[in-house]
Amino acid sequence: MPWTHPLRGRLRPPGDKSITHRAILLAALVAGQHQIEGWLDAEDTRSSLRLVTALGVSVVEATTERLILESPGREGWHDPSIPVDCGNSGTTMRLGMGLVTGLREGLTVLWGDSSLSRRPMARVAEPLRQLGATVLTRSSGTAPVAVAGGPLEGGTVELAVASAQVKSAVLLAGLWAKSPVAVVEPLPTRDHTERMLAALGAPVDRPRPGWVMVAGPPERPLDFRVPGDPSSGAFWAALAALLPGSHLELEGVSLNPGRLGFYRALADMGVPVTYTIVQDEPEPLGRITVSSHRLTPLALKPEAVPEVIDELPLLALLATQAHGTSTIRGAAELRVKESDRIRTTAELLTALGGAVEEHPDGWVIYGPTPLSGGRVQAHGDHRVAMTAAVAAAVARQPVWLEGAEAVAISYPEFFATYDRLAQGIGVE
Ligand code: S3P
Repeated sequence: MPWTHPLRGRLRPPGDKSITHRAILLAALVAGQHQIEGWLDAEDTRSSLRLVTALGVSVVEATTERLILESPGREGWHDPSIPVDCGNSGTTMRLGMGLVTGLREGLTVLWGDSSLSRRPMARVAEPLRQLGATVLTRSSGTAPVAVAGGPLEGGTVELAVASAQVKSAVLLAGLWAKSPVAVVEPLPTRDHTERMLAALGAPVDRPRPGWVMVAGPPERPLDFRVPGDPSSGAFWAALAALLPGSHLELEGVSLNPGRLGFYRALADMGVPVTYTIVQDEPEPLGRITVSSHRLTPLALKPEAVPEVIDELPLLALLATQAHGTSTIRGAAELRVKESDRIRTTAELLTALGGAVEEHPDGWVIYGPTPLSGGRVQAHGDHRVAMTAAVAAAVARQPVWLEGAEAVAISYPEFFATYDRLAQGIGVE
């Protein structure tokens, strides 16, 4: 049902998903005890925990406050005796493929759920093969994948797709290569892996824009606080933009520029957005405020797509409420996310009365259209489920969402927070 009150107050989103995955995977590399405060405990990051425990890492503590891992270090890894279940997590599988090339010998088999088994893995297998790795995929280039451990050659790898996951896989594989490994990306993507490797003492260099080089492994154990996830905070920011009279402060969130594309797009649509940095290294962190405003249409530049990739379904929803025609193109990557997000988002918004034209690489959206209620599907996709919940808050009639449980992938407390906010209970 529509929310009749504004969203006012302060909220701390859960730990960042991308950074938590990396913290877990990087902890496996260095012998000793690793402390990860404010981690995201969700289905996706549990997949990365499964992978590192299969390599011999033990979980000393896993509470809501902190995760403590004890790692034997790469020298002490076991050869995983059974295939590792990566669940729904593309980050676990793709970064994991790079990581497990570090096994001195042996073979790691990675598999996943039906969504992950449809997603392209050849984009990781190919660059790893260029470094001399033995990697098998199904003939369709999809999972299950098998990766042999063993020493790799160095060299320069030019990526065909702008993907932080592929870049990170190559960087992780490069840590023990016989000579430095350089990765060249077609467009800038989130740089958490290179920042975190450098913070742990690995020799990482960015010789020019678009290039990252690694020349050796990290040395220090992690003692790290994970910032809040700006992609999870984006759902509340969208509500604050939409509900008149709102003013929301998102606290303790990552302000990594590679993750703020959604907030930049909101500002481009006329929404007042401010940032306050409270920490710079290893990850910029601080506060974002968002206030409601009449939305102007969005013309998203294709080169801005990687920095807003996970929030595009939500931006499409906002575009249905903008005063004019919005264009979100150059985003064909969305077809190979947890669902085909171009299709599933168009289906969701159309079912609720949005005027959405689907294109091979995005949408043209004619706004504003009032949203009606209806029956919609999450298609097993956490971000589609949360976008539907935001739509429901501004729709005129009830929205029935099938598959709402998908939120557990990245934001298990999403509906608890949603219910509290829907009842007008102040954000903490
Ligand atoms: C991620 C990178 C992005 C993003 C995904 C998380 C990461 O994927 O969509 O949710 O943690 O590196 P791609 O690198 O495939 O674009």
